[in-house]
Formats: sequence, C-alpha cells, structure tokens
Amino acid sequence: MRDANFLIENNARHMWHPMAHPAEMQAMPPKVITAGAGVHVTDVEGQKTLDAVGGLWNVNLGYSCQPVKDAIRDQLSDLPYYSAFRGTSTGPAIELSYELREWFEPDGLTRAFFTSGGSDSVETALRLARQYHKIRGDRDRTKFLSLKKGYHGTHFGGASVNGNANFRRNYEPMLAGCFQIPCPHIYRNPFGESDPAKLAQLCAAALEDEVAFQGADTIAAFIMEPVLGAGGVIPPHESFMPLVREICDRHGILLIADEVITAFGRTGAWTGSRLWGVKPDLMCTAKAITNGYYPFGAVMIAEKVVETFENNDDAFGNIGHGYTYSAHPVGAAAALATLAETKRLNVAENAGARGDELLAGCKGLMDKHQIVGDVRGKGLMICLELVADRATKSAAAKSVMGDVFEKTYGAGVMVRVSSNNVILSPPLVITSDDVATIVAGLDHGLSAAG
Ligand SMILES: Cc1ncc(COP(=O)(O)O)c(C=O)c1O
Repeated sequence: MRDANFLIENNARHMWHPMAHPAEMQAMPPKVITAGAGVHVTDVEGQKTLDAVGGLWNVNLGYSCQPVKDAIRDQLSDLPYYSAFRGTSTGPAIELSYELREWFEPDGLTRAFFTSGGSDSVETALRLARQYHKIRGDRDRTKFLSLKKGYHGTHFGGASVNGNANFRRNYEPMLAGCFQIPCPHIYRNPFGESDPAKLAQLCAAALEDEVAFQGADTIAAFIMEPVLGAGGVIPPHESFMPLVREICDRHGILLIADEVITAFGRTGAWTGSRLWGVKPDLMCTAKAITNGYYPFGAVMIAEKVVETFENNDDAFGNIGHGYTYSAHPVGAAAALATLAETKRLNVAENAGARGDELLAGCKGLMDKHQIVGDVRGKGLMICLELVADRATKSAAAKSVMGDVFEKTYGAGVMVRVSSNNVILSPPLVITSDDVATIVAGLDHGLSAAG
C-alpha cells in the first residue's frame, strides 16, 4: 500500500462515500482506518480508538478473529469461486445451509437463500413473499407494509419499505404499493403516548386499520426489524411483534423479520424474533454472519413457505432471482467459521450483560449533559438522541453532532453519528472495562456541546 501522505492527500478525492454528501467529504475528509485488532481500530495518523460502532453493526467478534481469517484464506486457496446457479453447488454452501438450519431451528426456519449482503437479503425476501402468494393463486397480494423509522437497505424494494425520508426523497418515485404505519417509538410518536404497552396497541390498531383500508387480499407481507436500528435504535414493547404476528396470521399476510442487525446475538437473544417469542415467515440476515469479513447474507425461510414452493409443480415455483455471488464459497466458509466462534463465545449472553451496563452508563450521562434528550436500546444496540431543547425535543445542530463525534474520537472512542443520534453498536465481545471506556469517552465528547 502507498504511504500515509498519499492516503491523506487522496482521501475522498476520487471516490464517493455511501450515505454522505460528496462535497462535504471533500471538505471534511473521513478518518482513514488502517488497522484493527481486538475491539480497537487505528487510523492513518496512528490514533487508536475503541470501536463502539463494531464496523457497521457487523464485526461482532472483533478484528482479531483468527478462525474466520483462516477459513477465508483456506477457501481462497481450495476454490476461490464457483456459482450456485442451477446445476452447480459447492461444499461450503451445502455445509452452511445445514448449519443454519440447526441454528435457526428455534425460529422455525429451515431453508436458506444466500445473498451478498443486507439489501440483497431484503430484496430477496420481498420477492419471495410475492412469489409465495402467486404460487398459491393469490395474484393480487403484491403490496408491502412496514414501520415508519424502519431501515431496510437501499435497493428500490428495500428503500420503498424504508420509513425515513432521508433514504427515499432523492430517489422517488419509489416502488408502488408500499405503505408505512406509525412506529412504536416512545420518545416520538403521533399519539403522544408514553406508555409502551398502550403505544404497542395503538400501532397494532393502525396496522389493522391499514390492512382494512388496503384490503387484506392485496397485501403480500409486513416487514419489520425486531429492534429498529439505523432509524435510531427503537426497541418496541415486548407485546408489539406478537401483536403484528397475530394480525398477519389472521389476514394471510407474511411476516418478514429484517434481522440484518439483530440476528446472531446483538440484542442479547440469538435472534430478535426469538427475543419477542415470534416465528417469522422469512428472516433477512447478513452483516455478522461473516463477522463483517466477507460480504454475505442469507434469507431464512419458514416451513409454511418452504412447503408452498417445494410442492409446486408449475413455473410459478421457479425462482427467477439470485446473485452471481449467492452462496459464494469464500463467504460461506467465512460464515461457517463465524457461526462456530459465535456459538463458542456465547456472545449473545455477553451482549445482554454488557448492553445493560452500557445502557445504564449512557442513561447516567443524562444528568450531566442537558443535550441528551433520550437514551434507549436493547443489548448492544444503543442510541443517545441529542436535542437543542429537552422540552421541544428539537434536534441538536449538525455542527454540534460533528463536535461531539470529534471530541469522543479524541478521547479514544469511535461512535457513529446519524442525524441527531449517537449510535453505539460495539463488538459483542467487549468487556466491562470497555463499557467504562465508552461511557467515559462519551462523557468527554458530550462536553463539546457545552
Ligand atoms: C435492518 C437492516 N436491513 C438491511 C440493511 C442493508 O444491509 P446492507 O447495507 O448490507 O445492504 C441494513 C444495513 O444496515 C439494516 O440495518
């Protein structure tokens, strides 16, 4: 690799960054990360920070997971690529499908469809949901319902079910037939409701109302994150997802759990669906499936959907969907090693325990820093929402968010700033000492707000 001066000089000059304004990136170039070890990353200036972002909600086992690195190296040497399109398969893909079936057995999911990442997994689930109804002769069931504030990636299907204008406005018109209902978000909801259980009822009633308005026989699926992530870490009341499951069942609507963040332990349970005691019809996974070391994802499929496809004997059952890199053998080998390590280290338990500590630590910062309007989370997904005024809940200024980020970074902790939210999603292997370091770093960073 070229030297540090070259990297600094050319940083953001010849590439556009995802989720950023190109001009802003040129004016304020991003941190250049050059190394990672354990739960820390180091930048081109030599500054080491505790990565409280966990890459991007995906490096659950940290940066030094040797079994995953070895599996990638060995698979690259044995067979760096072969396709899984009709007619061929590979050993790692077959073995992974077997392991995932065991892994997701408690969720009632028995088949895998492999993808190259989260957006692909969402796109796949939406398409399979429509196809499921077509096979059954319900050809009008094409619409999708979802939650405001939800995030489902950036393909046109996923962006169309997203519940945040930031990811939609510049790309409209979106896919027809997608409708959002209010999100069970205590801090900001249209009902002015502060009781979580009552709010869950109100949002479920809004879903019921939308189903009646659209006509149940026109709706293919409802998609939701069990704990909303990118929209600002919103854990719904425990009754909400079961209520949604019941409504979907009653109306013949499929339930897609978008677990791109929550699968594999982040909430303190092995899946978000399991956390709430719900069995979805389709589950989207990606990110931590390979510990972030290789772009890969899997849509897991419930028996009800499996039977419909596998018992079909006409062209409606044919899957006209897939990616060149679906079931990539190197990704599958990485996933196999990641699953084994994830299980061996029992990271879900640590995510639950460290998550409670981190949430308590962040809540403690509210006494000292008026700018913190709300702290919420579940397991190791936590958000501090920063406001200019606690009474009106008006968002903290962008410049303030930038200052908080820089000052926290200077104190040795990497966090993610998204609109007026500071989002924490550290590796699931962090210790109590790491939690204390994150809270101390934030304490220092928040003082930037005065
Ligand atoms: C819930 C959810 N779904 C889908 C996606 C999209 O995944 P990817 O960025 O890998 O395409 C994300 C990404 O953060 C996500 O959080």
